Amino acid sequence: MPTATIDPAVLEKWDQEYIWHPFTQMQQYQQEKPLIIERGEGSYLYDVYGNKYLDGVSSLWVTVHGHCHPRINRAIIRQLEKVAHSTLLGLSNVPAILLAQRLVQMAPAGLSKVFYSDSGATAVEIAIKMAYQYWQQQGNEPYRHKKKFLCLQLAYHGDTIGAVSVGGIDTFHRIFAPLLFETITAPAPYCYRCPWQQEQSNCRRECLQELEKIIQQHQHELAAMIMEPLVQGAAGLMVGIELVLDRTSKEPYPPEAQIGHRVILAARQKGLILRPLGHVLVLMPVLTMSIDELRQMLTITYESIAQVTGA
Ligand SMILES: Cc1ncc(COP(=O)(O)O)c(C=O)c1O
Repeated sequence: MPTATIDPAVLEKWDQEYIWHPFTQMQQYQQEKPLIIERGEGSYLYDVYGNKYLDGVSSLWVTVHGHCHPRINRAIIRQLEKVAHSTLLGLSNVPAILLAQRLVQMAPAGLSKVFYSDSGATAVEIAIKMAYQYWQQQGNEPYRHKKKFLCLQLAYHGDTIGAVSVGGIDTFHRIFAPLLFETITAPAPYCYRCPWQQEQSNCRRECLQELEKIIQQHQHELAAMIMEPLVQGAAGLMVGIELVLDRTSKEPYPPEAQIGHRVILAARQKGLILRPLGHVLVLMPVLTMSIDELRQMLTITYESIAQVTGA
């Protein structure tokens, strides 16, 4: 039953006509019925027909407290009634000061100032520029050469050119190679396909040893190292399920099998939104998801994998 005030068929037509969706194979997208979200509540998103979906990727890892949290909504409305935007260039404002003070209180010792940004990629750009500028302003000859960034293979830091430069996902970044600055890369802790063919039981942290070697070799030219917080490399950043043709040999599916895409479409039919990253299924639930909802998410995920792969 349509719930949107505009006819869903019109929205679907305009979506196909006017929107270029990021990280989306548009040729394929235009052949499929789009999923158009109209509202959200807690762990769920609702489409224009009123169908309900568990948000298994927290709307791309940004929904921490669930959708439409009344307290957050009220705070946003209260602020909008005062002022929507005022610059920090040479001026300040009340919420910026209060938030900065609280963030510094929570942050580890030594992190004593806040520089605001508006997205993950622009935060990365700022961090890159700060690290670079820091060494340039040391004035001394040896530090002038510290201009390079050490990053992990398979890393993802966003889609602006600086963030892409320090990223390592070939499918996303290959075409922009001529625009990017040079970096030094270290192996990602991608334990499922360990470059040293080690298993957890005999792992001697070879990738860390390699990283140490790289730092020693390049420290005279390194401005900083960048990595995703907590778990390193997009290959391990989120909870992912890597789909393989053969579990023993770990033989991957050929790209034309579009295995990840097919599984997320099956999950969608069962009321769960997931993202494929090639043949890896990304699960990143809203952090306030209940245990029952998490169980439901996993049940649908496994059922969808079984339905598509026959495994
Ligand atoms: C670790 C990491 N850094 C940066 C970004 C880019 O963030 P944004 O999409 O807000 O630019 C992402 C996005 O997924 C991310 O996962």
